Amino acid sequence: MTERAASSTAVLVCQGRAAADGRYAVGRFSDPIAADLLDSSERLVVDRVRAAEPPTEPPTEPPTEPPTEGTDRVAHEMVRRVAVTMVPRTIAIDDAIRGSGAEQLVILGAGLDARAWRMLELAEVTVFEVDHPASQRDKQRRVGALAPRAGRVAWVAVDLSKEPLAAGLEAAGFDRQVRTTWVWEGVVPYLTPAEVRATTAQVAALSAAGSRLVVNYQLKSLPTTVMRAAMRLILRVSRHPDPMAGEPWRSQWRPDGIRNLLSDNEFDTVWDSDLLTLSAGLELPSDNNGSLRNGRVALAVRR
Ligand SMILES: C[S@@+](CC[C@H](N)C(=O)[O-])C[C@H]1O[C@@H](n2cnc3c(N)ncnc32)[C@H](O)[C@@H]1O
Repeated sequence: MTERAASSTAVLVCQGRAAADGRYAVGRFSDPIAADLLDSSERLVVDRVRAAEPPTEPPTEPPTEPPTEGTDRVAHEMVRRVAVTMVPRTIAIDDAIRGSGAEQLVILGAGLDARAWRMLELAEVTVFEVDHPASQRDKQRRVGALAPRAGRVAWVAVDLSKEPLAAGLEAAGFDRQVRTTWVWEGVVPYLTPAEVRATTAQVAALSAAGSRLVVNYQLKSLPTTVMRAAMRLILRVSRHPDPMAGEPWRSQWRPDGIRNLLSDNEFDTVWDSDLLTLSAGLELPSDNNGSLRNGRVALAVRR
């Protein structure tokens, strides 16, 4: 059996955040660590996207033209669109973390999430980085000697499709009596409905009353499925590596399905919003609105 590789979609969303930093929603969105987590070859396209959209305040370099042909253009467009998507998603989740006052933050399927390395608000918080073992090893290599801002970072390697959460978390010092914030961002689509249900039940069993769960999911919609398939076809035709190839989407949800799932597991939904709504006032380019409409973030509190 071949071992699963580290997540490529984790790299793609990290590229998006690195491209967006200081370019979109300046003053609201920031992820200066994302670029540090990328290898130099992964940074090339990020640098091109940033050069095509230099900051307007203060005016600096004139923008360079984005590539017009071939694989460069496909890579450029993919990272630029991901950058736009990351902005409202990150802001909404960061705000939910800031408002929680919880002593424990568990990031499920953490990928190259840099919150433990960039959020000053986590100085007194233990951050549990939960991820598939291959992705986690890759992140540890990338993090290297970067100093976290969080009080403590605890690494918990778990395959959510087949391993229980509790043992690894508690061995790393997680306390189920203490209020926790759970972040489940960009992971639900990669799990089957049964895996999403099982993970939610485990999260509930490990959550003290008042704990928060912030969950990002993809809307069940035909346009979303068609758009993703079209993007993958373009990648194939232009012979560009497809970061989605080894990570198929396995579940998309409707808001009432997520609300019921959370409620069945003792979590009351406080809000559930699409990324387009969360983008209000952020002055993002409008050509990615279709994708923003289909991504959602919900915040729920444990009874
Ligand atoms: C698109 S990335 C998102 C990473 C990060 N949460 C973010 O938003 O930047 C998907 C993440 O889900 C993780 N993942 C997917 N399936 C998983 C599983 N069965 N068990 C644990 N993690 C999984 C991958 O390893 C990867 O880190």
